[in-house]
Amino acid sequence: MMTHNPSRRIFLGGSLAATAASSTGILTPAALAASPSMDVPKVIYGPQAGIAKLNANENPYGPSPAALKAIANASSSGGAYYAYNAGMYLTDMIAEEYGLSAKNISVTAGSSLILAFAALAATSKGVILGPDLFWDTTSKAPIRQGGPEIKRVPNTADLSIDLDAIYNAIDDNVAMVHICNPNNPTGKILDPKKLKAFCIKASKKTLVLVDEAYNELIEDGPSHSMIPLIKQGHNIIVARTFSKIFGLAGMRVGYMLGSEENMSFINRFGLGGYSLNQAGLAAAIASYKDEAFKDFSREKVAQAKDMILTAVKENGLTALPSSTNFVFVNLGDNGDANAFQKAMAEQNVLIRGQYRAYKPWSRVSTGRIEDVKMYVDAIPKALEAIYRS
Ligand SMILES: Cc1ncc(COP(=O)(O)O)c(C=O)c1O
Repeated sequence: MMTHNPSRRIFLGGSLAATAASSTGILTPAALAASPSMDVPKVIYGPQAGIAKLNANENPYGPSPAALKAIANASSSGGAYYAYNAGMYLTDMIAEEYGLSAKNISVTAGSSLILAFAALAATSKGVILGPDLFWDTTSKAPIRQGGPEIKRVPNTADLSIDLDAIYNAIDDNVAMVHICNPNNPTGKILDPKKLKAFCIKASKKTLVLVDEAYNELIEDGPSHSMIPLIKQGHNIIVARTFSKIFGLAGMRVGYMLGSEENMSFINRFGLGGYSLNQAGLAAAIASYKDEAFKDFSREKVAQAKDMILTAVKENGLTALPSSTNFVFVNLGDNGDANAFQKAMAEQNVLIRGQYRAYKPWSRVSTGRIEDVKMYVDAIPKALEAIYRS
């Protein structure tokens, strides 16, 4: 006979976590830290009480009040039906915003999905070119199917994206250049004039993807966006998400914009509207023009970043300037981001570990102010732990 075991039905996404969960029934903070996508069996829909979840660049102040109301309404009146009409409604809202047509836009369950489809489409023709350090999760997706590795160009000494070197690395084999602006995990932003000039020049040679997941967090987001280049006919696609400033990471809505030709080629690798759900779309529709909520979120992010940067300085560390809702902290020459992550997890604070070869660099997201306070308070002990060992 089957027994009911709720913990078994939860996706844990890592063997370390699975072990910790099955032996104790509850994930340890260290196990939680192993993956940003993990949940605790007894708290299915969000972080466990007492845990500061600062590892996945979410906005814990969402969903907005208007989005919550819309989620309830849409679920009761539309939850039984596929979400075609709501998908078209949101697509039209976005199209109108940029003077584009519905055929220029693909809405999917989070931007990761359409970004992965773009990566699959690109690697059917050649390789993806990107910086050494960027949010490469989706451009790595084709590798699992035997597709090519990403061709990487070193970042500059200050960890910026080296646009000149990337341009020089475009050859006939490159099917897409992948740029995140602002970048993750660095939080750095490119000069908009330089990026625009790069996009125009590079897109004459190959398709250019600009992932603008954090654009709305920038003071003057529209002046940094490459979306207007699409209307001007350049070979550029842009990704956006409702996961960051809108506080809807768990509601899964994102989108891509591009020429009709590019979008129809990328959509051949996708699912049409079948990844969409009424509740997520309702939340996105209710949030898209909610300027008050966006301002409120930007304020919370700014307050949290101030706290992080002050604490970083007080503890003798440095950090990169951040245009996002996370900070890339340099733990010092002998710093070890994985050891620091572990020492933080032991104090119930979840942050990210090492990226690629960048051992001393540690990424922390902004989050609830009380959670950021936990991070700030935990720094001295965590540093002591890593420099003692
Ligand atoms: C640059 C960037 N793009 C996309 C995503 C994923 O967003 P989504 O939740 O829309 O899949 C992230 C998530 O952290 C990100 O940092």
